[in-house]
Amino acid sequence: MEQARKPTARKPSAGKVTASKATARKATASTASEHPRPPVSVATGQGPAGTATVPLDLGSGPLLLPRPSFSPGATLETALQLRCSVRDFSPEPLPLKLVSALLWAGCGINRHASGHRTAPSAHNWQEINVFAVLPEGTYRYEPAGHQLALVDAQDLRALTGQQDFVARAPLNLVCVADFARMLDCPADERSFFAGADAAFVAQNILLACASEGMAAVVRALIDRRRLAAALRLQPSERIALALSIGWPGPSA
Ligand SMILES: Cc1cc2nc3c(=O)[nH]c(=O)nc-3n(C[C@H](O)[C@H](O)[C@H](O)COP(=O)(O)O)c2cc1C
Repeated sequence: MEQARKPTARKPSAGKVTASKATARKATASTASEHPRPPVSVATGQGPAGTATVPLDLGSGPLLLPRPSFSPGATLETALQLRCSVRDFSPEPLPLKLVSALLWAGCGINRHASGHRTAPSAHNWQEINVFAVLPEGTYRYEPAGHQLALVDAQDLRALTGQQDFVARAPLNLVCVADFARMLDCPADERSFFAGADAAFVAQNILLACASEGMAAVVRALIDRRRLAAALRLQPSERIALALSIGWPGPSA
């Protein structure tokens, strides 16, 4: 087994998988049959540097996300080798295609007949919702349509945590548990199960980030009251975890 390495930055202009990674990624990781992976490379999955992640002419309707796809040849072993917390991010925006892949990895539907998701949840409550907080605005991920619904067209990134880097990360994801979906769970056990379910979502995302050479860290240090107000959460919705994600910065 090779030693764990820090992820290497993959810029859009130089987005090819390195030779060593290509060797490590001989096998093709499995993806749900409902989302057969097109043979796209990371390079073709990225937009030109400097473009926004989300088109600014979003309008009032939901934004349909592109079909999730991952680097050809990425393996679970490589992702596990590369996974580490990184808190230094390039300001470069992420392509929507990659945001799509990360959201699907976190809590997308991988069995359409049953509506079950990539991450398990106790009693299949599916109580974890993910908010994507981008410079262009904040969006709620809707797994059923694999789409984003606009919550607020402002840059709320700084509110997603209490550490400086969160305002600079091009993407922050916030995992929110809706206790209203857990009514058959004893009230004093809801936090326990919701925390576990949020952690599965977060780890799926972290491994997807690692396999794509991205920098990421999961976070619990959050001013939950302030962020809940900004996300316009219902009283039954509780913030569990957040993740900061981007391309690695110079000191990563
Ligand atoms: C539940 C949980 C909460 C965390 N909260 C934060 C946080 O608020 N801020 C932060 O910078 N890192 C946070 N981390 C990341 C840990 O500090 C990190 O995982 C740990 O130092 C081990 O390093 P590694 O992830 O590189 O293995 C959190 C990790 C977990 C699992």
